[in-house]
Amino acid sequence: DTPLRDLAAAKGKVIGTAVTGSKLTGTYGDLAGAQFNSLTPGNAMKWGSVEPTQGSFNWTEADQIVAFAQAHNQQVRGHTLVWHNQNPGWLTNGTWTAAQLGSLLQNHIATEVGRYKGKITAWDVVNEPFNEDGTYRSDLWYDTLGADYIANALTWAHAADPAAKLYINDYNVEGVDAKSTALYNLVKDLKGRGVPIDGVGLQAHLILGQVPSSLQQNIQRFADLGVDVSITELDVRMALPADSTKLAQQAADYKSVLNACVAVTRCAGVTVWGFTDSDSWVPSTFPGYGAATPYDENYVPKPAYHAIAEAL
Ligand code: XIL
Repeated sequence: DTPLRDLAAAKGKVIGTAVTGSKLTGTYGDLAGAQFNSLTPGNAMKWGSVEPTQGSFNWTEADQIVAFAQAHNQQVRGHTLVWHNQNPGWLTNGTWTAAQLGSLLQNHIATEVGRYKGKITAWDVVNEPFNEDGTYRSDLWYDTLGADYIANALTWAHAADPAAKLYINDYNVEGVDAKSTALYNLVKDLKGRGVPIDGVGLQAHLILGQVPSSLQQNIQRFADLGVDVSITELDVRMALPADSTKLAQQAADYKSVLNACVAVTRCAGVTVWGFTDSDSWVPSTFPGYGAATPYDENYVPKPAYHAIAEAL
């Protein structure tokens, strides 16, 4: 079979996967390198990973993934600079004035984006800023800095690597609804103010049989606003155990998502959140669910893999 990355490249699209650095050897490394033209570190670039103690950095896994990607002629999607989860304890347990927290964030972004300047195609600068009703999520950032933390983070990231595409990434924004409309209105506002924003990431952690029917329309409205769209964390979870009926539905779901991206020129591509069921966050996060990725635990391609190939 033709590798997914060759099929994607022929259409000018990205087909990516989230990866765990320590696993990039053997079959896992062979498939990650052969099948995908983009890698996203699943955890390695999060603040809690790179600065577990204030001022003391650990870039080992992030560097490893970037080096692997360069050796395999792959893009890297940087993930993520500002989020409410997986922050270091020293940061979340501290008491900070707005001025202190703003400068901690500015330094974090300058340090991390600067380290990988020229090596990251796109950064998920801000991750998951919205609640389901489209209001801003109450977290360390919003509660202390107000909504301006988003514009400031984008501006600081642009200063550190002017060539990187800068994204806001969220979940449950795949279809047209209150949350995706809040994202749309934010992007429109940022563009109007001249804030550097290049794209929106639709995570797409989906449930079997529940691809939103307005996915393509939603991608198109962002494209019409003048930003790129990426599907950044695609997986389709099912109640375990898997069976052939569920795997066929999953293949149809993957195909709908790929088709929607292929249909819109400004959709840059699709990244799966782990390519094998042996490296998926689903079973530990959603008890009773799993089998969410295109390859099974033994690296055998599932119907979903073939569906991706057919759509590309
Ligand atoms: C997940 C990782 O895959 C897990 O290994 C980790 O324990 C928790 O985070 N949205 C995101 C990703 O933006 O960073 C999350 O990744 C999944 C949900």
